[in-house]
Amino acid sequence: MCGIVGYVGQQNCKEILLRGLEKLEYRGYDSAGIALLNEAGVHIFKEKGRIAQLREAVDTTVDAPVGIGHTRWATHGIPSRVNAHPHQSASGRFTLVHNGVIENYTLLYNEYLQGISLQSDTDTEVVVQLIDKLVQEGAAAEEAFRNVLSLLKGSYAIALLDAEDPEVIYVAKNKSPLLVGLGDGFNVVASDAMAMLQVTSQYVELMDQETVILTENSIQIKDAAGHLIERAPYEALLDASDIEKGTYEHYMLKEIDEQPPVIRKIIQEYSNDKNELEIDSDIRQALLDVDRIYIIAAGTSYNAGLIGKEFIEKIARVHTEVFVASEFSYNMPLLSQKPLFIFISQSGETADSRAVLVQVKELGYKTLTITNVPGSTLSREADYTLLLHAGPEIAVASTKAYTAQMAVLAILAVDLARAKGSSVPFDVTQELGLVANAMETLCNEKEEMEQIAEEYLSVSRNCFFIGRAVDYYVCLEGSLKLKEISYIQAEGFAGGELKHGTIALIENRTPIIALTTQQHVNLGIRGNVQEVIARGANACIISMEGLEQINDRLVLPHVLDLFTPFVSVVPLQLIAYYAARQRGCDIDKPRNLAKSVTVE
Ligand code: F6R
Repeated sequence: MCGIVGYVGQQNCKEILLRGLEKLEYRGYDSAGIALLNEAGVHIFKEKGRIAQLREAVDTTVDAPVGIGHTRWATHGIPSRVNAHPHQSASGRFTLVHNGVIENYTLLYNEYLQGISLQSDTDTEVVVQLIDKLVQEGAAAEEAFRNVLSLLKGSYAIALLDAEDPEVIYVAKNKSPLLVGLGDGFNVVASDAMAMLQVTSQYVELMDQETVILTENSIQIKDAAGHLIERAPYEALLDASDIEKGTYEHYMLKEIDEQPPVIRKIIQEYSNDKNELEIDSDIRQALLDVDRIYIIAAGTSYNAGLIGKEFIEKIARVHTEVFVASEFSYNMPLLSQKPLFIFISQSGETADSRAVLVQVKELGYKTLTITNVPGSTLSREADYTLLLHAGPEIAVASTKAYTAQMAVLAILAVDLARAKGSSVPFDVTQELGLVANAMETLCNEKEEMEQIAEEYLSVSRNCFFIGRAVDYYVCLEGSLKLKEISYIQAEGFAGGELKHGTIALIENRTPIIALTTQQHVNLGIRGNVQEVIARGANACIISMEGLEQINDRLVLPHVLDLFTPFVSVVPLQLIAYYAARQRGCDIDKPRNLAKSVTVE
C-alpha cells in the first residue's frame, strides 16, 4: 500500500527519492509523486501510473538536498494526478505525504476548514491545510503539527516539509509502518528499510503516536506527550541482492524458485543442537497452556492457516480454528476458556489482522505472530514471534511466504505434539527435506507448466480448481494466485460441493484444474472430474505419485501425505504465472492490489 520516502542532507536527493519509490513499488500503488525543497522553494511532481511515468514528468533541471516522496494506493478519491501525494497547503508553505486513512477527515474539514477549497478528494489534504491554518493563527510549525496529530482518528505515517524551515522533515506514525534511517551527514525516512538500503542500513524503529524531527545531523524522537525518546538503531540485515531480480524476468518467478532453499533455511534456523526442529521454549509453554488455537490471517496467509489447522489438529491434536481477519473483529465467535491467537502475516503489517490483535490483547489473551518481517507491527505487538526466514517477498502475489508459513506451522505442530508427550510418526526434518527436493523437481519443469497454462487457460475467462480434504485448501490458494495476476475469474471448490450449485457454470471447454494427492479422496475427486467432463469441461488432473492414472496431466513427486500442499501448490503457482505472462499482465504488480495492506 502507500509508501513514503524522505531525505534531508547535503546531496541532491531527487534520484535517491525516485529510486526509493521504485523499491516501494512492490507494495502496490496507482500514482506517485515527489516534492523537492531547495532555495527556490518547493517543487512538486506527481503522476498517475508508474514511477517510470513520474520520472518522465520530473523536471531534470530541478534538484534539492531535502525532499519527500510517495506511492499512493487509492482509498479516498480515485487514482489521479490531483489525488496523488504530496499535497500542499493553500499558502504553499507546507507539503505532506501520508500513508493510512484519516477516518474523521470530513468532521475535521467541517469543524476547522470551512471555506477553504480543497484541491483533491483525499482524506490527506485536510491534514496539511489544517497545519497551515494553525500556523497562520500563530502556532509554531512543530506545535501545529503536534496539535493536528492529536485531532486525527485513524492510521497515519506522515512526512511534512516546511518551506520556511528547509532543513527539517517532520515525521509522525500511528498504526502505519515508518522507519527513520541514519546516515553520515543525512537522515532519511521510509516505509520500509528496502527503500533506503541504497544509502543506509542503520534504522530506528518508530512506535505509534511518536513524532520525529529529522535534520541532516539529528533525529529527535518524541512520544505523544512530547517527551524525548532515546532509541538505539538496528542494522537492517538485508542483502541488496535479495531485493534484485537478477536474471529473472519477474520477482514472482524468482520467489517461486526460492521456495526449496527457503524450506532448507527454515530447517536450519529451527534446528537445535541435536538437529531436531523446535520452537522457542516460551512459545511451547504458552501453547501447552491453551485449549484452542485461533489462527487469524488474510488472503494467502489465511490459506496457509487452513493447512496449519490440519497440521496442528492432526499432529498435535489441539483444536484449531481459522478466521479471516477482517471478519473476526466484527463477528467474534464464542471463544474457548483458554485460547491462544496465532497471526499469520508475511508483511506483519496487515491492518485487518492488527485490529484483531489489538482486540484480543485487550481481552487478555496470549498472541503469537508468524511473519517474514522482524520488527514489523504484528511482531512487535504480539507476545511471541516466529520468523519465516524467507527473505524479502517483492512480488505482490505471495508464493515463498505461503510455503514458509506452512513449514513453520508444521514445525510448531510437531514441537507441540512432542511437548504433549504424543509420538510423531515421522521425522519432520527428513520429510521437510524431501519436500524441498520435490519442490525443486517441479521448479525444473517450467516448460510443462507453461504448456498447461497455454492449453487450458489461453482463451478462457474463468477456471475452477477442485480438490477434496487438504487439496481443497490448496485449490483456494491456486485460484487466488490465478485470479490476482492473470485476472481470469478463478475459484477453488470442494469437489463434492460442485453438484450443489457451481456445476451450473460448467460449459463446453470450461477449464477445471483438479488436484488429487490423498488416497482416501482420490476416487471421490475423480468422480467429480467425470461429472464436469460429462458437461463439457476441459479437465487437467494433477495427481500424486502412487495415485496417478493414465490421463493425468501432471504427476507430483511423492511426499508425506500431510505435506503434499508444499508440493501441489508449486505447479499451481507456475500455471498462474505463465497464464498471466501469456496474457501480458503486469505480474509483479497486478492492478488494484497492494503488497502490504495497511488499511482496514
Ligand atoms: C495474495 C497475497 C495477499 C496477502 C494478504 C495478507 O498473493 O499476497 O492475499 O496474503 O494481503 O498479507 P500478509 O500476509 O502480509 O498479512
